[in-house]
Amino acid sequence: MKNQLNKIADDTNKYLKKFIRNQKKSKLIIPMQYGLFSGGKKIRSKILIDVGSLFNVNYHTLIIIGSAVECIHAYSLIHDDLPCMDDDSIRRGKPSTHIKFGESTAVLAGNSLLTMAFEILSHKDLQLPDKTKINLINKISESSGHLGIAGGQYSDLDYEHKKVSKKKIVEMEIKKTGKLFSFCCVAPLMIKKMRKKEIFEFENIGADIGLLFQLADDLIDNKGSLFVAGKKTGKDIKQGKATLISLLGYKNTIKYADKLIFKINNKLKKYGTKSKNLSNTLDYILNRNK
Ligand code: IPE
Ligand code: IPE
Ligand code: MG
Ligand code: MG
Ligand code: MG
Repeated sequence: MKNQLNKIADDTNKYLKKFIRNQKKSKLIIPMQYGLFSGGKKIRSKILIDVGSLFNVNYHTLIIIGSAVECIHAYSLIHDDLPCMDDDSIRRGKPSTHIKFGESTAVLAGNSLLTMAFEILSHKDLQLPDKTKINLINKISESSGHLGIAGGQYSDLDYEHKKVSKKKIVEMEIKKTGKLFSFCCVAPLMIKKMRKKEIFEFENIGADIGLLFQLADDLIDNKGSLFVAGKKTGKDIKQGKATLISLLGYKNTIKYADKLIFKINNKLKKYGTKSKNLSNTLDYILNRNK
């Protein structure tokens, strides 16, 4: 698992480095690279590869798509750490981008990483029919905007210090984190021109994987340490974040996560041993400590 994840992370970073090297230089490149390459598990790329292997999608194609996803993810973290959001000074064991380069630079580097995702998906390196590329760009845009990351981040901040229902918390977690995982789960099927029904099924699997991922992140915040997690922990309680842990408690949140894994694995049964990698990734997601 770790070896596989490292290889995917290496290949993604290699592609991104090459992509940036081939662009004209600018002053924002350094903070952008800082946000992109300062670590990061590249778990979203791993999900792309795992789902891709169910449908025999070309590995390199998925690495390019994963690179675009990681740009959006890196942007979302840079902005998430800003003083107007979670106000976090440490990310991946290093000073957050705005601490290192200043707030305005962090905002602009984040914006530029978001748009770089669209440059990557529309680039000639990605050898797919134009129609498929447009569909992918359409889907990833939706996952990132007001119906996805940005909308979820809005609710996350809006719900601070409020009593919020379980349904609303789950909706918020699926938007801020789940939608990008949904994109990773449907992209391979879109490439293979699968039917709407199957795409819809994987959209839901992705939302559940993203929810699982965010629950695990919330558990790490609750019990983990700065030294291992590479970011300050215990902050969700301090900031009055509405999480399933704040509503149900730690143990019940683990039970909820176990049930989610069971539900996802059930849906994957029909793919037989081919889905082993994806199942292993689910266990890794819940049991990781960073
Ligand atoms: C952290 O994401 C933010 C969430 C969406 C929970 P990751 O845990 O994937 O961050 P890195 O890229 O590995 O640092
Ligand atoms: C962030 O969630 C989700 C994003 C979409 C960026 P968190 O605020 O819990 O992520 P961390 O704990 O700071 O990494
Ligand atoms: Mg946040
Ligand atoms: Mg945060
Ligand atoms: Mg967190």
